[in-house]
Amino acid sequence: MSSILARGRFITFEGIDGAGKSSQIAAVVELLRARGCDVDQTREPGGTALGERLRELLLHEPMDLETEAMLMFAARREHLAARILPALAAGRWVVSDRFSDATYAYQVGGRGLDAAKFAALEAWVHPGFQPDLTLVFDLPPEVAAARVANTGVSPDRFEREQRDFFDRVRAAYLDRARMAPQRVRVVAADRAPEAIRAEVAAIVAERCFG
Ligand code: TYD
Repeated sequence: MSSILARGRFITFEGIDGAGKSSQIAAVVELLRARGCDVDQTREPGGTALGERLRELLLHEPMDLETEAMLMFAARREHLAARILPALAAGRWVVSDRFSDATYAYQVGGRGLDAAKFAALEAWVHPGFQPDLTLVFDLPPEVAAARVANTGVSPDRFEREQRDFFDRVRAAYLDRARMAPQRVRVVAADRAPEAIRAEVAAIVAERCFG
């Protein structure tokens, strides 16, 4: 453990498909390592052997909405128990591509899951626990859809959704940011990657090292 901080920090990245999270995650991980932090980079759904198997089902197998929400939280519970919480307790930093805000945005916002059911699952799976910082990459769905179409990879169950679905997902992310403005920071993602990277670096410096 090289970090001098007693407890690691938990940083999550969010946004609609095609928001450009991946390159920004890589930049933050590099920045944190340059500051001497031990960083564990992970993703949801996934992050553990079981979670990755659940991810395959979630991304490709048709299922009932409530099954989908519960499987997202089942994968998350495993991720927390086996990986996130032990890493934080050992002073490591954890950077995750998505966490519970994604369930709020996609299952509640996008698919119409009852918000009270989401809240019950969240309170069960991680009572009193939230990321230290969440970055939401925000951009118009039509810009994001063009990026997804250009990757050449065949779209999963979520990426195949239509524009109005992603309008609702986007709006739900922005609602979530309004509900927790200290934790959730919205970053305009329809800009040059270098400009976004600079803003993200400034937010991380202020929130985690300020
Ligand atoms: P992501 O890893 O961003 O996909 P990709 O590897 O294609 O960049 O996320 C996988 C998909 O799962 C994404 O479309 C959002 C969806 N998702 C939910 O619907 N709810 C959730 O709770 C999570 C974590 C992801």
